Formats: sequence, C-alpha cells, structure tokens
Amino acid sequence: MTSETTGWDNPLRDPRDRRLPRIAGPSGLVIFGVTGDLSRKKLMPAVYDLANRGLLPPGFSLVGFARRDWADQDFAQVVHDAVREHARTEFREEVWQQLSEGMRFIPGDFDDDTAFEQLRETVDELDTARGTSGNYAFYLSVPPGMFPKVVRQLKKHGLADAPEGSWRRAVIEKPFGRDLASARELNAVVHDVFDPEQVFRIDHYLGKETVQNILALRFANTMFEPIWNRSFVDHVQITMAEDIGIGGRAGYYDGIGSARDVIQNHLLQLMALTAMEEPAAFDAASLLTEKLKVLKAVKLPGDLGRHTVRGQYAAAWQGGERVPGYLDEDGIDPESRTDTYAAVRLNVDNRRWAGVPFYLRTGKRLGRRVTEIAVVLQRAPHSPFDSTATKELGENAIVIRVQPDEGVTVRFGSKVPGTSMEIRDVSMDFAYGESFTESSPEAYERLILDVLLGDANLFPRPQEVEESWRILDPVEEHWDRHGRPARYASGSWGPEEADEMLARDGRSWRRP
Ligand code: BG6
Repeated sequence: MTSETTGWDNPLRDPRDRRLPRIAGPSGLVIFGVTGDLSRKKLMPAVYDLANRGLLPPGFSLVGFARRDWADQDFAQVVHDAVREHARTEFREEVWQQLSEGMRFIPGDFDDDTAFEQLRETVDELDTARGTSGNYAFYLSVPPGMFPKVVRQLKKHGLADAPEGSWRRAVIEKPFGRDLASARELNAVVHDVFDPEQVFRIDHYLGKETVQNILALRFANTMFEPIWNRSFVDHVQITMAEDIGIGGRAGYYDGIGSARDVIQNHLLQLMALTAMEEPAAFDAASLLTEKLKVLKAVKLPGDLGRHTVRGQYAAAWQGGERVPGYLDEDGIDPESRTDTYAAVRLNVDNRRWAGVPFYLRTGKRLGRRVTEIAVVLQRAPHSPFDSTATKELGENAIVIRVQPDEGVTVRFGSKVPGTSMEIRDVSMDFAYGESFTESSPEAYERLILDVLLGDANLFPRPQEVEESWRILDPVEEHWDRHGRPARYASGSWGPEEADEMLARDGRSWRRP
C-alpha cells in the first residue's frame, strides 16, 4: 500500500477532493499520562480517526506509559473503549486491527530507570517489527511539574537524540507555566534536552478549522482587509463561553483560574490572528513574526480596576438542573479566590489598531457554549434617515463563529418591508455545514498529524508564550491584591461588573 493509494482509497474521503493528502511517514507516538482525560477523550480517538482517514502509515505505533499494572492488551482495550466512545469517524474493524497491532504499554513511574530502559527497547523493537524507522514523538500529557523529570529521563536513556536519518519530537500541553518566570524556567528545562525545532507546544484552538479560517478570510479575500483597521472598526470582542463547570478538574483549576487557563493561550492567540499583519508566507517563521508583533504591541489599560473583571460562579438552576457554585465543587477550597470568569480590555498600540479596544472574556457556567470573534464596526458617519427609522439599527459587525455552528456572520441594517422607512439589523450567514460536505477534523487530529509531519505552523513558539504571560501577569497581580472575584449566577452571562466595564466605555457585550 503506497502512501498515495492509502489516501485515495479511503471511502471516507470526499471523491471531489482532489488535493493530495498529507500523510505521515513511518513513525510512532509515545504518550506519557496515558490514563488522563485528555488521552482518553482526545488523543486516542484522534489517532484512530487519523488512521481511519488513511493519514497514518500502516506500521504506525502507539506506546502508552503510566503507573498501571497493564499488559499491552489491557492498554489496547483502554484505547479501544476510548475510540468507541469518542472517535469522530465510524469504527472499522480492519483499521482497528492494524492499529492495535502496533500498541505497546510500559508500566512505571517517571523516576523509574528500568521503565525508560524498557521504553528504549520497545522503540527499537517497533522499528524492526513495524518499520517506524526511529521516528518518534513523545507526548507529555502530564502536569507541567512533571515535564523536567520526563524530559531528563528521555535524555538520560538516549531517547531524545534521533538516530541518523530519523527524528525525535516532544509535544507539550499547556499550561506552559503559571506566570512569566515559571514559563521561562519550563522553557529552559525543555530546551536543555530538545532543540527548539523539536518541541511542539499544543494550543488546541489553533488546530480548529474555524481558527485557521481567520487567516483565509482575511488574506485570501479583498472585501475584509480594507476595513480591518481603526478607520472602520469600533472595537473587537472575543468571547469563549462554556456552559460546563470545572467538573472533576479541581486539582488543576483551583489556583489557576479562567484567565490563566484560557486567556493566556487560546484567547490571546485568537486576538493575535485577528489583529496581525499579513505574513510574508504561510510558514511557521512568518506567522511567528506577525503574531509576536501584535503581542508585543498589546498594552494593558492604566486602571486595571476599571478595565478588568473576574468572577466566580454561584449555585443556580441551569438547564433544568440545580448546579453547585464553584466554592461547593468537590476539591475546591471554600475560601478560594480563583476566577471562573475573566474579562479584560486590551489595547494594541500600533498604527492599524490605535484606539480600538479588544475585549476578551471567558467563563465557565455561562449561558451557553460559544466561542466567537466579533469585529464591531463604527456607525455610519452620517445618516440621511431620521432617527426613528434607525432606532432599531445596531452596529455593523463581522462575527467569526469559532464554535459551535461554525461559520461567519455579517450583520448590517436593512429596510423593513413596508410603506415607511424603517431599518433593522439582519445577518448574512456562511455556515460550514451548508457549504462543505466534509466534516471538520477535530483539532487534535490536525495537530497530531502536523507533529508527525514536522509542520510547526499551528504551534505557538516560546516567545509567544512568554509574551502572553507578560500581558497577563500584571492582571493576575492586580487581582491578587484586590478583594475577591464577583459572583455570578450559573447560566447567566457573567458578573454585572463585566457589563458595567463595557458600559463605562459606552459599549455592551454581545449576547452570542
Ligand atoms: C482547555 C481548557 O484548554 O479548553 C478547558 O483547559 C476548556 O478549561 C477547554 O474547557 C475548552 O476547549 P473546547 O475545544 O471545548 O472549546
């Protein structure tokens, strides 16, 4: 089976899609932290979905490493169950058979030299048995406190250095530290073992189709870019709302909070893509240059008390169910000041955006799950209509709907049919589901494939991570010094203080 026929023969491919598939060459993936939620819900299903779409090599191998008394078959069973429950594509016995033959499990903890020796032998064995050619990605799906241990063990046991003609890569998951100082320490530890181009930092938002579409929308078209600046844009709102609470993640979340969890990475990346200049090419170095220029130009407002808000969800009825407040969740310190909602106003001090505020907000247990970027335009400089005709008219807006209902909406005013002149807001809509027959791959499918291909376009570089902490650190320090988070009812759209924050600027949040 050649790599090309693998792709074309796949019944799940849309036959009209004549692009050459991007297929990974001989390789394997080693996952540390294989018993965690991320592995089960995202990584294992993504590996299967890639295999099912014909995008992995026939001998692809998956190695799990964890402190469990499992044999290879037990691990394969865990992967099987995760795939049956969470995979995006249909289950096909022949795909599963081929994939599961390349599954191995290493029991042990991260201090255990014998386990890492066994990992080295397993990698060698798979090279022979499955033809993985020494090409391995090590996925650290573990708390950042464990990174140093794991990378040093990989180094010590000769796993970080690629044999001649092959590659070794490290994949790390956020959080990349909890502030600038710890992020720098973490970067130093990782780069002590791996060269910068061997390290892939996952921000799964960059793997979402709709996020990649920000660049297509802006730079493959003519109609948006001329108005994408301070002459036409009044402000930008970036919202990532979730209806769920913290679930079983108290251990990770408490003391971290929503701003570190989401604004530092996903929302600042969305902002950078929205605000950046056109890159010279669509490659990792050019994207980094442009995103970094934006992040470096981001300035916090002088008065953080007026232009930032943090909140904590309180018990309420949500969707017909009584849900607990944050402080009543299992494992949460009842005195915790951790934010589950955060809103900040940022300015981008450059020629394109001077004077245009970017409002970023995120929260758990909000009205519904939605992520969107709304570019809100200024009102027309003059209106020939009398004020009663336009009293229902809002501001024009271009809204990139990241999820769910992926698409783009353009909102503008239109005459209401009838004998009088009355103008009201209407929307023009592009929906992925209606325009394309292919369903969007999961972010992790795209990102794992990119790691195996060595394509770094969609992975934040350490400079971006550090710059993002530079932006967020003063906000966190301000919050640490001042009081407690405001409370908001679960199922609402956040604390009143957040509405007041925008009202002071003469604006209001969109109700997505
Ligand atoms: C993760 C955060 O990065 O993103 C979670 O740690 C959050 O708190 C999740 O729930 C949301 O991801 P998505 O893809 O469902 O929007």
